[in-house]
Amino acid sequence: MLTVRTAPDLRQAIAPWRQAGERIGFVPTMGALHAGHLSLVRLARGHASRVVASVFVNPAQFGPNEDFNRYPRQPEADAAMLETAGCDLLFLPEVATIYPLGHATFVEPAGAAEGLEGACRPGHFRGVATVVCALFNLVRADVAVFGEKDAQQLAVIRQMVRDLHLPIEIVPGPTVREADGLAMSSRNAYLSPEERRAATVLHRALRAAETAISQGERRGDAVRERLREVLNTEPLARVEYAEVVDAETFQPVETLRGRLVLPLAVRIGGTRLIDNIRLTAEER
Ligand code: PAF
Repeated sequence: MLTVRTAPDLRQAIAPWRQAGERIGFVPTMGALHAGHLSLVRLARGHASRVVASVFVNPAQFGPNEDFNRYPRQPEADAAMLETAGCDLLFLPEVATIYPLGHATFVEPAGAAEGLEGACRPGHFRGVATVVCALFNLVRADVAVFGEKDAQQLAVIRQMVRDLHLPIEIVPGPTVREADGLAMSSRNAYLSPEERRAATVLHRALRAAETAISQGERRGDAVRERLREVLNTEPLARVEYAEVVDAETFQPVETLRGRLVLPLAVRIGGTRLIDNIRLTAEER
């Protein structure tokens, strides 16, 4: 696996693949990789003959009081893991490569970017959409893979690709979980042993809501209440949101129908975790 840091080196590495008519897959990441990211690389391999991954901790998607400075950075370990997972090329840019001096152009998503993460983290999706658009233009892949764990991000990226006519296919990658149900996340590394145990409450809440829906519950408020009921049993948990939204628009639903996402954001001690499940509610 080759590692490149600049746009000209990236172009040079990809050019022969393009000339040979190869299909290129792309997995954008912020590094501190875990099995969830590696599953996205493997998924990309199934959709393309070459896989490019990027590791870039994007300053534009962090708020002023968020964890940009302490976000885990481990480029050597990431490179070794990517190589094992079958990645062909790692793009490891500096901030000045993505945001050249005088950079002043941003992608401002509305619609699916409003509410939930968009409300709790103002400017977050503007930063995500801007960096993803820049990375898409640099890599010019045929297909990109995004994890379903960041469900709203996935909806925002799909919306951006549709609205800006970006010539790329978006493939969702299922959430990978620890044995006790905790969704894999680079931020799990922040949890103390006690917080790590408490963090399983997110998955338990989602399962409880899923059970209620499978038993016929179709009232949005009742499902929200069920989620909070379970989350509130954990003293270390502080709920930011526990919602039921339409899978495409990310708007809250009153009556459950069609493809839905149940997204959660919960602080466990000082660590903010998100998780979700997707389901389809049949009419009753
Ligand atoms: O999901 C992430 O890791 C980031 O938001 C992404 C898509 C790499 C953009 O920085």
